[in-house]
Amino acid sequence: MSEPMDLAAFPRDFVWGTATAAYQIEGAATEDGRSPSIWDTFSHTPGKTDNGDHGDVACDHYHRWPEDIALMSRLGVGSYRMSLAWPRIVPGGDGPVNAPGLDFYDRLVDGLLDAGITPNITLYHWDLPQALQDRGGWTVRDTAEHLAAYASVAAGRLGDRVTRWATLNEPLCSGWIGHLEGRMAPGLSDLTAAVRASYHLLLGHGLAAQAVRAAVPGAQVGLVTNHSTVEAASTRPEDTAAATRMDGHTNRWWLDPVYGRGFPADMRELYGVALPERPGDLETIATPLDWHGLNYYFPVTVADDPAGPVPHAREVRLPDVPRTGMDWQVDATGLEALLLRLTEEYGVQNLYVTENGSAFPDTPGPGGEVHDPDRTRYLEDHLAACARAVRKGVPLAGYYAWSLLDNFEWAYGYDKRFGLVHVDYATQKRTVKTSGHRYADIIRAHRRARTA
Ligand code: FCB
Repeated sequence: MSEPMDLAAFPRDFVWGTATAAYQIEGAATEDGRSPSIWDTFSHTPGKTDNGDHGDVACDHYHRWPEDIALMSRLGVGSYRMSLAWPRIVPGGDGPVNAPGLDFYDRLVDGLLDAGITPNITLYHWDLPQALQDRGGWTVRDTAEHLAAYASVAAGRLGDRVTRWATLNEPLCSGWIGHLEGRMAPGLSDLTAAVRASYHLLLGHGLAAQAVRAAVPGAQVGLVTNHSTVEAASTRPEDTAAATRMDGHTNRWWLDPVYGRGFPADMRELYGVALPERPGDLETIATPLDWHGLNYYFPVTVADDPAGPVPHAREVRLPDVPRTGMDWQVDATGLEALLLRLTEEYGVQNLYVTENGSAFPDTPGPGGEVHDPDRTRYLEDHLAACARAVRKGVPLAGYYAWSLLDNFEWAYGYDKRFGLVHVDYATQKRTVKTSGHRYADIIRAHRRARTA
């Protein structure tokens, strides 16, 4: 049962947004000088994605962005979280800048500003230029330096109009899922590579944060990380220890160094991989941030699994709990708990929910309408959790629903639909779903309340 929404909890200037990522929506994979990214390579490798889906066309946002901005205006969102495709801007990963790639984002930013929508730009949402992967990708230090160089090019061009920047999206997924579990690009299953990649991602974050600040006076620079609350499957000491390890793997490894605590000692010991540390790196990684973006989807419950892969914690599937079409457990209290943890344990003073949403198999009705009660309820319940967190003192400044559009859901391809707006991929027709209308109502109600 959804609880009534405590909209009055949200500050007057609360930011209501929607989020997307370049490779998931843009298409135009070979247009205007864009080079292949690791996701082009991965998705075109047989067996890596469901149905062999790839982002060649996706939502064709590269050509349809004016329509997509108009959709956001219809929803009434005040901000749009988007990412830039590094392979459009610096196709070789380092070296020459591709002017048409920058021009595209220039037009997009102007279009957003004309519509009164504030861009919130993520520099790296997983689409590493393949040319850099060929030279070692995130397992080598140079990639962190190249990220910073690309960041200064992008921020240098757009920074006169864009102040809100994020360096990375979900380094956990790049690091662990891409290099340890092999389920995402570049598709490696190698602990040493994964630990090195995690280190260079965070180093790249710090260097890029500094590069954006140098290019854009008054920039608001943040990092977007994804987290889950972790429960032990039982009170057995083996299971509680497994939960501590999973928490280290999922949460502390990515937050402790960013907030000046260094890499957690228990996890360093567990991984047993030497970090490619150099003097000064930890200070770079802990470059003070203006804001933190939390992506939250689901909680996890784990049991000890000594023979299983690092962190030797097996996910336990709870019976009789609600789940999305991704088979992810639905639990809005996890969002509240993580917001409180970031505030209380890490001292974050300016927080955004930068992604939150759900996939369900939507079927358009006879008149083309898309009624999605499960997604609507997910949205309401998670906003209610945000409101509770704010009442408890969390400095939450905004919420970005994932996603504006149904899009290319990485290894799951196009079957998993997260959009507030339905996309018919055969015709590229967009239809606002019931959840999108509900989101628009919530935004309007909050706006009315604050101007009353
Ligand atoms: C997050 C990603 C985003 C999207 C959602 C469902 O992990 O950042 O691109 O795929 O999951």
